[in-house]
Amino acid sequence: DRTFHILLLPGDGVGPEVTAEARALLEAVGPAVGARFVFNEGLIGGAAIDAYGTPLRDEEIDAALASDAVFLGAVGGPAWDNLRGEARPESGLLRLRKALGLFANLRPVRVFDALVDASPLKPQIARGADLLVVRELTGGLYFGRPSERRTDEAGRRAIDTLPYTDHEIERIVDLAFRLARQRRRKVTSIDKANVLATSQLWREVATEVGERYPDVTLEHMLVDAGSMRLIARPRDFDVLVTENLFGDILSDEAGVLAGSLGMLPSASLHGEPPTRPGTVAPMFGLYEPVHGSAPDIAGQGLANPLGAILSVSMMLRFSFGLADAADAIEAAVEDALAAGYRTRDIGGTATTAELGAQVRERALARLGG
Ligand code: NAD
Ligand code: IPM
Ligand code: MN
Repeated sequence: DRTFHILLLPGDGVGPEVTAEARALLEAVGPAVGARFVFNEGLIGGAAIDAYGTPLRDEEIDAALASDAVFLGAVGGPAWDNLRGEARPESGLLRLRKALGLFANLRPVRVFDALVDASPLKPQIARGADLLVVRELTGGLYFGRPSERRTDEAGRRAIDTLPYTDHEIERIVDLAFRLARQRRRKVTSIDKANVLATSQLWREVATEVGERYPDVTLEHMLVDAGSMRLIARPRDFDVLVTENLFGDILSDEAGVLAGSLGMLPSASLHGEPPTRPGTVAPMFGLYEPVHGSAPDIAGQGLANPLGAILSVSMMLRFSFGLADAADAIEAAVEDALAAGYRTRDIGGTATTAELGAQVRERALARLGG
């Protein structure tokens, strides 16, 4: 058997609840595909603040670097909301992404047929939408310096800085084009080039990169109009590439298409993910659902585990080269939804554990286990 080392960072709120389903799924499918998963667990976010006084220790970064992939639940919550800056749970996650060099955040958004009715959008608008948000993850406003809040006699002032280099833009846009070649060959680059200098650079670099891909259509869209377009005509999009903060906002918006934010998975990578297993070396990655710690439903078994489960599927595909297992999990998610198993956010009464178990059972059946 091939052995893969996975670091689990469950985090806060519903994070541990969905991480338990992710782990159970990996434990179930491993033997069916000849893989052995070795788990190591660490603390991040509020849980790490409570235990160690810091949202992320160097030990966890080292453990991540020593593993083949990391799965993260979610961080943050009301207990830590009065903390500022680097003391906050969220800064642990940002530090982890940066330390691991994970500049590419892939957030696929698919509207499953079974969930067309779970979206507040008219069925004819949401049905069939299938897009990929490619979010730049280690630059922009999240990491710009200075970033500070001052309370000196000059009054209350705060500043954040939005920097981008051509190199940072080039590598993420290039990745978006390569991913578009495996899809419907269309890239929509989202910016605010009518106002921001960084967006003007973004658009210039995106246009240059686009010239290298004559077989892929490139369109530029301003973020305000693009956010409207995303829910008005979601099927117009194939690959959407954008800077860190715009990508954060647009991906939550896209959650509405899928029926719930709880449905969306993500992979954070440092380059192009392997597509055909065996032809390209599997890649290290951090896998996490797009949603947060959902304090409003934490501890009640109400969290939708599918964003976490689909993140596991991305892990198997990109980091372990186990495409068959990934396919089986994605099909199992559709099977479970079609059979009517749903958590409350998508209009059902199943618990986190019940929906997780349904997916596991169906994935195993598909793998012949
Ligand atoms: P959130 O994503 O936690 O929740 C937004 C809404 O979506 C809530 O109504 C919640 O109940 C619902 N929701 C989220 N995940 C769900 C799931 N799996 N199943 C069903 N419903 C789900 O966003 P928020 O409430 O604005 O933020 C809460 C905390 O989470 C904050 O501290 C925030 O910083 C943090 N956060 C963390 C991450 C992360 O760790 N990657 C992502 C986003 C927000
Ligand atoms: C996400 C989250 C994070 C982000 C926060 C928790 C730092 O919202 O992963 O989308 O803004 O990147
Ligand atoms: Mn977010």
